[in-house]
Amino acid sequence: MKIAVFASGNGSNFEAIAEAVETGEIQGEIVMLFSDQPDAYAIERAKRRDIPVISFSPKSCSSKTDYELRILHFLHGYQVELIVLAGYMRIIGETLLSSFPSRIINIHPSLLPAFPGKSGIQDAFKAGVAESGVTVHYVDQGIDTGPIIAQVRVPIHPNDTLAAFEERIHQAEHQLYPRVIQEIIQCRKEDRKS
Ligand code: GAR
Repeated sequence: MKIAVFASGNGSNFEAIAEAVETGEIQGEIVMLFSDQPDAYAIERAKRRDIPVISFSPKSCSSKTDYELRILHFLHGYQVELIVLAGYMRIIGETLLSSFPSRIINIHPSLLPAFPGKSGIQDAFKAGVAESGVTVHYVDQGIDTGPIIAQVRVPIHPNDTLAAFEERIHQAEHQLYPRVIQEIIQCRKEDRKS
């Protein structure tokens, strides 16, 4: 399975997925990293692993369609079969959605549908809930919506700090995402056989 990872920032989830590919936990290959942020740390991580990097901002394109058509050109070039969003902070448009139906997944740091958006960890912590978690879901046209594939719960302890809670969320993400990606690969293999 040829995988493209999309990331806008730090790229710790990208790293966890790349490690899982290396150890064989994921029976697939990351054929490209795409970033909309030319200074994203995820790019450094990909370069260190010799994974091809494609990076340009939508600002350099005439429209969202133009932006996504440019991305699509690379996805087709690398024969990508699965798009994995890992901290990619943009809404996916119709061009990519219609080209990759049920083949774009996202990870979000809350128990969706609670706390969608860019600050799921902080929002849950500030709300004072006793637990939050991590969700992996198929992507649709919304912000952190689309059919849920898997969730794990992460408690918020009474004397927790945001930093400690955030760390546990990321640990949960780094375990869950590789596992779900491998499950998807396994399911697709079995579908092809039957
Ligand atoms: C992750 O916590 C991911 O769940 C979140 O961005 C972070 C990226 O971290 N995504 C969203 O909030 C999507 N709405 P990373 O760059 O270290 O992987």
